[in-house]
Amino acid sequence: SYLGIDLGTSGLRALLCDEAGVPVASAERHYEARHPHPGWSEQDPSDWIAALEGAVGELKGHPAWSGLRGIGVAGHMHGAVLLGADDAVLRPCILWNDTRSHAEAARLDAMPEFREISGNIVFPGFTAPKLDWVRSQEPEVFAQVAKVLLPAAYLNLYLTGDHVADMSDSAGSAWFDTGARDWSDVLLEAGHMSRAQMPRLVEGSEAAGVLRAGLAANWGLSQAVTVAGGAGDNAAAACGTGALHEGEGFVSLGTSGVLLAARDGYHPLPGSALHTFCHAVPGRWYQMGVMLSCTDSLNWLARIAGLRPAELTAPLGVTLQEPGRVRFLPYLSGERTPHNDAAIRGAFTGLGAETGRDDMTRAVLEGVAFGLRDSAEALRGAGAELGHLLAIGGGSRSRYWLRLIATVLNTPLHLPASGEFGAALGAARLGLLAATGAAPEEVITAPATAEVIEPVAEMVEAYEAAYQRFGPAYRAIREIQ
Ligand code: XUL
Repeated sequence: SYLGIDLGTSGLRALLCDEAGVPVASAERHYEARHPHPGWSEQDPSDWIAALEGAVGELKGHPAWSGLRGIGVAGHMHGAVLLGADDAVLRPCILWNDTRSHAEAARLDAMPEFREISGNIVFPGFTAPKLDWVRSQEPEVFAQVAKVLLPAAYLNLYLTGDHVADMSDSAGSAWFDTGARDWSDVLLEAGHMSRAQMPRLVEGSEAAGVLRAGLAANWGLSQAVTVAGGAGDNAAAACGTGALHEGEGFVSLGTSGVLLAARDGYHPLPGSALHTFCHAVPGRWYQMGVMLSCTDSLNWLARIAGLRPAELTAPLGVTLQEPGRVRFLPYLSGERTPHNDAAIRGAFTGLGAETGRDDMTRAVLEGVAFGLRDSAEALRGAGAELGHLLAIGGGSRSRYWLRLIATVLNTPLHLPASGEFGAALGAARLGLLAATGAAPEEVITAPATAEVIEPVAEMVEAYEAAYQRFGPAYRAIREIQ
């Protein structure tokens, strides 16, 4: 059997799969992120270990457990776990959604080599600016940093006893040559770091090592268990949804929204604020646009209205209406793609005396759909095809929203049949690949489609016209904020 571990921002999920890679059991443990100052977001890596041990304790009773052969870890990306020479954790992990190092990020991003070599803007959440912040604000910690590990690599260390990271996660550090799939000495030096402080690199589907003997004994396992390189959570989700080849991707309607496309080659386009990262299998990459407030926008309106999100969308029914007069700019927490603008905030425009709650709900759904269209345009600008797009995440429960997004993107959306297709499954698949040497194409496959949501053909043009006013609206709002 195989174990996929999804180290998430709010908790850890462990998924046990049988010999064929089919899920048979799962266990979950939750933990908190701490926000000791505005913009800070930290976790204690020991909480992850406790969560992992708790989840494993639960799965150990399953009949499939004793035949465990491979483990893969997916982690929330960009976080910095700082280790001293004895591998002790020096300070809490600074997470992907921590914005304290925005000034350092801007400074590094202004050095042309970062975009040139890493293929990405240096976003405030990325790892390199965090270390630059530690260097200036916590010099006594910085001086002791023997290794920097991303969260998934920290679990790899716990599992194998070795410092090993995969390419997909490492590409989000801003110290990485994403085209060459290697640390960049130029970027490390510009970030006041060295290669010796980085973990060894393997592909996500390759073996990082074997489960430590002590841990295997505690977990009741007598055979050798292969630990895969693992992945950042988005690459792992791509493995779980079967986004491997050009034309395969997903739109994830979560707190933040992600439009991801698998790429056969390396086609960075940093100016568009797309993320271009290595895939978790050799010789492949993926690109994604990230909008920061996706279901968060709807949740916000629901909070204001004193309702649940589903109560807001229910009165809209399922028949798509023409674009409304009221518009919403979904920038409640700033925006990544395509604006890379942390300071921008949202807006309603076109309010009239007749505007009611449903008009505002529609405006929010439309604003988010247009934001995703911005990411689709950026992806198309990088040459990505959006052929087979899966719709996943909590927002995909709204039929109205799905029709709207399909129409605004002018692309059919495939709704997966219920089941597993997330980062935990992707991680288990990497464990299987590393343990068996199977071909990625045979293992990383798409879930069965339950339904295809087609664009509403007679409304594509009206929504296109409305989308054409979305960019100018952002620029106008930016002028006055
Ligand atoms: C990706 C990103 C997030 C984290 C959260 O760039 O910041 O998706 O990986 O899990």
